Amino acid sequence: MSITGIKGMNDILPGDIETWQYLEAQARKIFGAFGYREIRVPVVEKTELFCRSIGETTDIVEKEMYTFSDKGGTSMTLRPEGTAPVMRSFIQHKLYAQDPVSKLYYIGPMFRHERPQKGRYRQFHQIGAEVIGIDDPKIDAQVLAMLSHYFESVAIPDVSLQINSLGCPECRPGYRQALSDFLETRQDLLCADCQRRYTTNPLRALDCKVPGCKEATSEAPDMLAHLCSGCDDHFSQVKAYLDNLEVVYTVNPRMVRGLDYYTKTTFEMVTNSLGSQNAVAAGGRYDGLISDLGGPALPGIGFAMGLERLALMLGEEELVPPRPELFIATLGIAATKAGFNLLTRLQRQGILAEMEYTGKSLKAQLRRADKLNTRRVLILGEDELARGTAQLRYMDESHQEEVTLESIEARLLKEIHDA
Ligand code: HAM
Repeated sequence: MSITGIKGMNDILPGDIETWQYLEAQARKIFGAFGYREIRVPVVEKTELFCRSIGETTDIVEKEMYTFSDKGGTSMTLRPEGTAPVMRSFIQHKLYAQDPVSKLYYIGPMFRHERPQKGRYRQFHQIGAEVIGIDDPKIDAQVLAMLSHYFESVAIPDVSLQINSLGCPECRPGYRQALSDFLETRQDLLCADCQRRYTTNPLRALDCKVPGCKEATSEAPDMLAHLCSGCDDHFSQVKAYLDNLEVVYTVNPRMVRGLDYYTKTTFEMVTNSLGSQNAVAAGGRYDGLISDLGGPALPGIGFAMGLERLALMLGEEELVPPRPELFIATLGIAATKAGFNLLTRLQRQGILAEMEYTGKSLKAQLRRADKLNTRRVLILGEDELARGTAQLRYMDESHQEEVTLESIEARLLKEIHDA
């Protein structure tokens, strides 16, 4: 029996990859204009990094990590997200010593052992962005403006931005206590997970998808009503800057996020078109994370978008593969050699050119040229070769002319440039 891939881990095939490349290229372009530079970190980290940052009582750390011991006995984990590894790298390489402000982005695979379904996979890909070193609400608004701009520029339909504030170490404990006290009165309505966690991580109950928990928490106390004056003021300013920048959003006081490092502003870009996997992008501020991981006390804010979800929303239809500019069809050994040299010369110039490599008949070569939907075919036989010429056929115009082999390169470059 042949070997198949792993459940929930997908191949991205030609035909689909063009959408991915487009989404990635737009991110590089837009993030670059906002001053972000790329960072690449390993896909495996010490397990402790994720336990300390994402939080021991989160779904990710409790149930979803791909964790194993390497041959030296160190516990390692395939990264379930990108923020913690980027912060680890930032601290380790003392990037703050070069510049007090860092804007970083990353693109790559993440791993979570979730139940696979449409829009939810075990290996998935994120495009993420992080700003370190600025706690001013202007940057919260700018991060959201960049995210919204990205969605507009790639023309992803039907998304809306929801924002919330989760407070800080000063005001969150009071809210947690109030929420925990509230949940205690409805304990018997909660699912097993929420019953277990309502004292250790009561906020998770607000995000639980189980209908009983939704019902039990419908009148739960509101985080926004418990913000301290500093957080309240920060959130008001974020909203004012967003209004100023004409970024459309709604406030969702029940949004809690599934990772523990967040403080103050949190947000999700949500859609109705992906069933229960409604978050296409998500993030927030994490002002305590860098110091919790042993770095300086610097604030941070960022987000990650799910590439699979973005690609799904851009539509199912395959993008048409690029058309070759030229197909070289040859007759005879000498012409084939000359054609092969010409092919490589053109490819080195960046011209998409093709030929048939295995010595097929002229008819078979032309069939292949048709299949590839090439724009032009160059027919090169022994006689033409002796004269230093070939027949150049324009497929869309059914027009053919004799050209010199010497001129073909410059001619194609000019035609492609003028097109
Ligand atoms: P997250 O909400 O866990 O946040 O994931 C961000 C996005 O990754 C989600 O909105 C979704 O689009 C995508 N995603 C998550 N899990 C899966 C999955 N199993 N299959 C497909 N797509 C998925 C974070 O990861 C934070 N690190 C975001 C962040 C960056 N916060 C601050 N900076």
